[in-house]
Amino acid sequence: MLVPDLDGLLPAEIRTAIAPIGDEVAELLAGERELIERSVASRRREFAVGRVLARQLLEKFGHSSFPILREEGERLPAWPSGIIGSISHSGDLCMAAVGEASRFQGVGVDLEPDEPVQQEIERAVLKDHEHDWVSDAGADERGRRCRMVFSAKEAVYKAFYPTTRTFWSFQDVLMSIDLEGRRDTGTFVARLPDGAGRDSIEGRLVQRGGWIIAAVAIFR
Ligand SMILES: CC(C)(COP(=O)(O)OP(=O)(O)OC[C@H]1O[C@@H](n2cnc3c(N)ncnc32)[C@H](O)[C@@H]1OP(=O)(O)O)[C@@H](O)C(=O)NCCC(=O)NCCS
Repeated sequence: MLVPDLDGLLPAEIRTAIAPIGDEVAELLAGERELIERSVASRRREFAVGRVLARQLLEKFGHSSFPILREEGERLPAWPSGIIGSISHSGDLCMAAVGEASRFQGVGVDLEPDEPVQQEIERAVLKDHEHDWVSDAGADERGRRCRMVFSAKEAVYKAFYPTTRTFWSFQDVLMSIDLEGRRDTGTFVARLPDGAGRDSIEGRLVQRGGWIIAAVAIFR
């Protein structure tokens, strides 16, 4: 499988890792394993590679063999004190990003196949000028553009959720995507709902190797 690189996606102080989903279940630490012992095999595998990648990144910040459990009552990973992070998996690929909370309020990543979404997803995800941006692309491209909007909104949500602890629907965030940057890299600006602590946030999006990857870092 072609594993896309993550160059230019996030600020250099945030470390990232990406890998195919193999069978890393045996590498789960005590505590982590219990979180997925009743899950189906595919879920156990995606969970395990996420933990393994995230723990490799934590090593770079001085946290060795730290079991990444979940925050109480949430699916949210419980990072070590002073650390922010995000995990995403899709199909047979997984990625993780980790940084320092002294520098960043949060980070969010989202990995999606670079494939069109179904029409009903389009209706749920898009609002206002997003419809025009997607339609301007023409029939072949519109579903993939919608996937970009979807992915960017998920990355934004994941970056803010640890602070806001509030559900945002896809209609709560307004996305403006600019693909005119480097060859395979776009930028986006998301207008945020009340309670986010700021009006907007910028992020990046890459289309590489059959994948769309969106990422947001919230600087303090
Ligand atoms: C939380 C959510 C964004 C995860 O996205 P997903 O496409 O299901 O799956 P991904 O593989 O990309 O991400 C899953 C990982 O995100 C992390 N995660 C789970 N809930 C999270 C949350 N509330 N905030 C941040 N990260 C979260 C976990 O690490 C999880 O993997 P793990 O369970 O193996 O640890 C999604 O399930 C969701 O609830 N979406 C609805 C809200 C939304 O996206 N709104 C967008 C408008 S802004």
